[in-house]
Amino acid sequence: MPIVGVDRKAPQALHQQIYDAYRVAILNRSLRAGQRIPSTRTLASDLGISRIPVLNAYAQLLAEGYFESRVGAGTCVSSSLPDQIARADSSLRKPAKARSGPRPISRRSTLLPPMGTAPWMRGWGAFGVSQVAYEHFPFKIWSSLINRHARSMGPKSLDYGDPMGSKELRETIATYLRTARGVRCNAQQIMIVSGSQQALEVTARVLFDPGSHVWVEDPGYRFARDVFLMNGCKLVPVPVDYEGLNVAWGIKRYRKARAAFVSPSHQYPLGATMSASRRLQLLDWAQNSGAWIIEDDYDSEYRYESMPIPSLQGLDSNARVIYIGTFSKVLFPSLRLGYIVIPSDLVDRFMSVRIPMDIGPPDFHQRILTDFIKEGHFSRHIRRMRLLYNERRTTLIECLREELGFAMDIVGGQAGMHVSVTVSKTANDRKIAAQAAEQGLWLLPLSTSYLGDVSRQGFILGFGSTSVKEMPQKVRKFRDLLNST
Ligand SMILES: Cc1ncc(COP(=O)(O)O)c(C=O)c1O
Repeated sequence: MPIVGVDRKAPQALHQQIYDAYRVAILNRSLRAGQRIPSTRTLASDLGISRIPVLNAYAQLLAEGYFESRVGAGTCVSSSLPDQIARADSSLRKPAKARSGPRPISRRSTLLPPMGTAPWMRGWGAFGVSQVAYEHFPFKIWSSLINRHARSMGPKSLDYGDPMGSKELRETIATYLRTARGVRCNAQQIMIVSGSQQALEVTARVLFDPGSHVWVEDPGYRFARDVFLMNGCKLVPVPVDYEGLNVAWGIKRYRKARAAFVSPSHQYPLGATMSASRRLQLLDWAQNSGAWIIEDDYDSEYRYESMPIPSLQGLDSNARVIYIGTFSKVLFPSLRLGYIVIPSDLVDRFMSVRIPMDIGPPDFHQRILTDFIKEGHFSRHIRRMRLLYNERRTTLIECLREELGFAMDIVGGQAGMHVSVTVSKTANDRKIAAQAAEQGLWLLPLSTSYLGDVSRQGFILGFGSTSVKEMPQKVRKFRDLLNST
């Protein structure tokens, strides 16, 4: 029986069919090493097709080492194919299954729990923490900028860009940060990255060795903790109160930490603004013990009861703060653009560490974002969104008070796009959140933000993507769920 047959009606090209048939025959050992293969002329004539597809298939099989050709002996199945070659069957094009043998993976990759066990992470809808008011995004302006830049693309746009990010965007961000966030910086210190998440990864790789101790806020931002853990750090959970990170507690517990990770403008998730005295205490500690401070300034543009709080970095006179910002909250998370403000003497280190990760950020959206900021759309959008989120926030708080009374502690609503609520200590917030997810409510359990003892059970409720009109009904659903558990 011929090994190779072709079907002219099949969607695959003839050369592909011939290639596949020989490959399968070799892999499942219907053809043996060293066995002779018909000449291209013979096979083409046997199959009643032109010689070109046969030549193409043979060339591919020769290039991949399935065939070899010897002068005077024609074409044969390669004699150097290993004996234990994978047994092939009709499942060759399906993903391979693990059959036997050790499958070693890194220990650090097993440090984090599987993501599949957190149903509240998957949602799109009411109370989702990382969600913004998507429907209010200025789509028309954004797409006209996309069109503009698509039309002006040329050969140069296809080249690798600056590993620090586009110079024009960095200059634009530096101007914005100096005026709006009180950050002391110039464009040379700014590195454009894929959201704060990559900022944390680059920073951790530059600053930490396996075993480095890092203070983290407790409760705090889990995705930051995960980055530090994956880089071999030892986490030191430091409690937060209404003044932010308890610096004295950290000093007492582990003074020699390499760094502290903080969100001073709007502590995540409890919402405190770090007081001036704590800021100075933290900077003093960093200065005296040679430590770094990583400042996560993720949503402070949205402040409702006062002016935005200037950054901690702006108070630092000793270049000890690595400042991280993101466009995920002020614009939208799928943009995946954020930035690091790096102390000048570390810029070169950051660049060396970043290049092996991804060489540099993609260029296209950086150009769009630059124009979006420069032409005033960015500040207009922030102004509009601040009003909108303020309405959503006050409605959420009013509805919670109305439906759940004053027994429920509501914290952290002065800024950003989430509030945290606490429930009875005997409740199981993860179990409730899993049930809520089945009903389309995305409650992030507060307990997941704790590293040390879980001192509160509750939920982090995003209000960014829930309209004022929908809010009462969603809160009633939340109340019913709480009452039924
Ligand atoms: C505390 C905190 N920092 C940063 C971010 C933003 O992360 P990214 O810029 O990687 O989207 C979030 C998003 O929800 C956050 O909650």
